[in-house]
Amino acid sequence: MAVSVKAIGVCTGGGDCPGLNAVIRGVVKAAVNDYRWRVFGVEDGFDGLIWPEKTRELDHASVRGILPRGGTILGTTNRGNPFAYELVENGKTVVQDFSRRCLDNMRGLGIDAMIIIGGEGTLKIAYEFYKLGMPVVGVPKTIDNDLSATEVTFGFQTALATATDAIDRIHTTAESHHRIMLVEVMGRDAGWIALHAGIGGGADVILIPEIPFTIEKICQKITQREAQGSKFSVIVVAEGAKLPEKDPAGKPIPRAKPGNVGNTLAFSLREFTQKEVRVTVLGHLQRGGSPVVFDRLLGSRFGVMAVHLVGEQKFGHMVCLQCDQIRSVPLAEAVGVYKMVDPRSDYIRTARSLGIVFGD
Ligand code: F6P
Repeated sequence: MAVSVKAIGVCTGGGDCPGLNAVIRGVVKAAVNDYRWRVFGVEDGFDGLIWPEKTRELDHASVRGILPRGGTILGTTNRGNPFAYELVENGKTVVQDFSRRCLDNMRGLGIDAMIIIGGEGTLKIAYEFYKLGMPVVGVPKTIDNDLSATEVTFGFQTALATATDAIDRIHTTAESHHRIMLVEVMGRDAGWIALHAGIGGGADVILIPEIPFTIEKICQKITQREAQGSKFSVIVVAEGAKLPEKDPAGKPIPRAKPGNVGNTLAFSLREFTQKEVRVTVLGHLQRGGSPVVFDRLLGSRFGVMAVHLVGEQKFGHMVCLQCDQIRSVPLAEAVGVYKMVDPRSDYIRTARSLGIVFGD
């Protein structure tokens, strides 16, 4: 796919994440400074290619001051797959394939190549577009840090800073009231945020999807702490943690969705410890706010590298971090493989040596 490039488009898809604006800024600056290309910002995921009036030109002025800002100046959506777009017509949901229309509109706007910033779902769509003939370069993002092709994603460190600060705050009130405090964190099906923030915040128990646990083992830890004079405990639970099927009395524990895992667990813990239990669900607080410096740096490096990949005609690739070097991998290899916490990893071993219990 040889393309003469004069203008590129950039869009952000899926859930937002701190550091997206650093990428957009890096893309605009590198494209204008190094290549004299024009840059078009495609709004709300791929919607700006379906409805081209939602696409606008970006220049130095458009990205001025956005480096410390959370969110994305382009807007995003996690419900806009152009290959199967859901629309409501006459009160009925209909599914339409807008992929060809996106390709035509891209050409109509004078865009020669697209830089697509997103998580697993968005990158899969980027790969589908590439196979359809769109010159694309991908940039991975997610606070969950669960993409296998890159050592780390921007947004993760900011989410950790927020979660760790919350655990610190929870500690002081837990201690005052001699309570069990549960903090539910995001992370989808992976336990990265829970594990790292749990160690960083000095949690007593960390519950992650990768390690099955029982209520008995959690209660044992709480009792052991009481015996040692600590009348409070802090438990960090990942939203994707798999609750045991039964409680210690053999009663079924209801299945819980993300956002309700902590509360469901609290019910059993209250019953079997006879202690006061409180739950804090951190939710989207972890996705918002100003990116920490690591995420600003990684976002900027990814954005600039994505532009260079377009310059090198390396379409169908995604930027990634490997051994602290910005590199690229084919999208074909990058999508569909999740990175989960290895229960034998040094993080888990470190946590266990620190006395942290995983409930197994
Ligand atoms: O993938 C990022 C993430 O924040 C997950 O941690 C979480 O499960 C999900 O997105 C929440 O998505 P939404 O914004 O659609 O509620």
